Amino acid sequence: MEKLRIEGGHPLRGEVAVAGAKNAALPIMCAALLSGEPLALANVPQLHDVATALKLLDRLGVKSRRAGDRVELDAGAVASVEAPYELVRTMRASILVLGPLLARFGEARVSLPGGCAIGQRPVDQHIKGLQAMGAQISIEHGYVVAKAARLKGARIVTDMVTVTGTENLMMAATLADGETVIENAAREPEVLDLAAALVAMGARIDGAGTDRIVVHGVERLHGGEHRVMADRIEAGTFLCAVAATGGEVTLTQALPATMDATLDKLREAGAGVEVGGDSIRLSMKGRPRAVDLRTAPYPGFATDMQAQFMALDCIAEGAGVVTETIFENRFMHVLELQRLGADIAIEGNTAVVRGVPGLSGAAVMATDLRASAGLVIAGLVAEGETTIDRIYHLDRGYEQMEARLAALGARIERIRGSA
Ligand code: UD1
Repeated sequence: MEKLRIEGGHPLRGEVAVAGAKNAALPIMCAALLSGEPLALANVPQLHDVATALKLLDRLGVKSRRAGDRVELDAGAVASVEAPYELVRTMRASILVLGPLLARFGEARVSLPGGCAIGQRPVDQHIKGLQAMGAQISIEHGYVVAKAARLKGARIVTDMVTVTGTENLMMAATLADGETVIENAAREPEVLDLAAALVAMGARIDGAGTDRIVVHGVERLHGGEHRVMADRIEAGTFLCAVAATGGEVTLTQALPATMDATLDKLREAGAGVEVGGDSIRLSMKGRPRAVDLRTAPYPGFATDMQAQFMALDCIAEGAGVVTETIFENRFMHVLELQRLGADIAIEGNTAVVRGVPGLSGAAVMATDLRASAGLVIAGLVAEGETTIDRIYHLDRGYEQMEARLAALGARIERIRGSA
């Protein structure tokens, strides 16, 4: 199994280009199922989750061609409407094929994702919304089995803000008969990016990016082209790393307009942040100041940035109160950060992080994708050597993280086996 070895204490300097957004690329790739004509995508990140999505689409009979950051998907000859357990369990976002398959083919069988390290994460809202659109849905042998001759437009109010739930329902509604209104819709920029891709395929969608999305169903969608938006979480992770180690880094190909909550917190922590159209320069001198965080749906502070900021608070001056409101079990990194010498107390969904002057390197284990990013940041500041095991979590969502950090001056390498 691969690990990362980090020698902490080296400031980061230089320039790094932000990759395409994982959480936009995955739903948009699934949207290819909605049309019999090819969908051409650019700026698709080279990630393990993207490879899993390609594998899943291949299983369904979608032909794909990949060259660098470009992916072309052709769902002209779909052969199966079943997303099997062995793929869905490695990537929950596989549930995103449910809406498109049902809308275009009138049936779908998608494995329930099952447990997940950061919480329960049910898909009841996806199901409830599709039922409101007239689908017959049952759970059989661990699979969601959905049928509908043609989905009908409906008014759907989700019980909570759900990102992939909104995306699944929006995709399904593009081919439904009549108008669908999704109330309490997720406002995440990735939902807007998906809507843009769907519109490029001939869908009629208003209000994406607000909490009320209106979709006017059409008979069919055609092929299209789309460039995937920049990854605001990857960008935020790099910025947090620089805020922790000190130094000065410029991000290019970024989308700062989608990153207000993150950039505000970095400024509060004492970083100098300058924003251009698609660039962000962050400089940091000395020790950061601790910041309080409360995760919330967009435009609030992203739960996917919580672990990285907690790592920053670990070495900050003062104490930060971190409240996680989206996932019930998203503090798995705390025990690992404590192994590096962090002072963190957890009470329910709140963690109080008292900054210490320095962390000391140790062997730690990644527990989920963003937790591993937090551990990398802690390792970059810890004195001595830190090894991070189970970095397949990191590879799910970050493209060549160690090579890009090394180019900025970090001492970090990937090692194999039990070394
Ligand atoms: C997406 C992101 C993930 C991010 C999360 C929250 C993708 C591929 N993943 O995940 O990186 O951390 O948004 O910003 O885009 N819920 C239900 N029933 C449902 C759906 C959700 O109870 O049917 C609950 C979840 O358990 C969670 C909350 O709603 O507590 C939000 O989850 P949701 O927005 O759906 O997360 P994902 O879309 O899975």
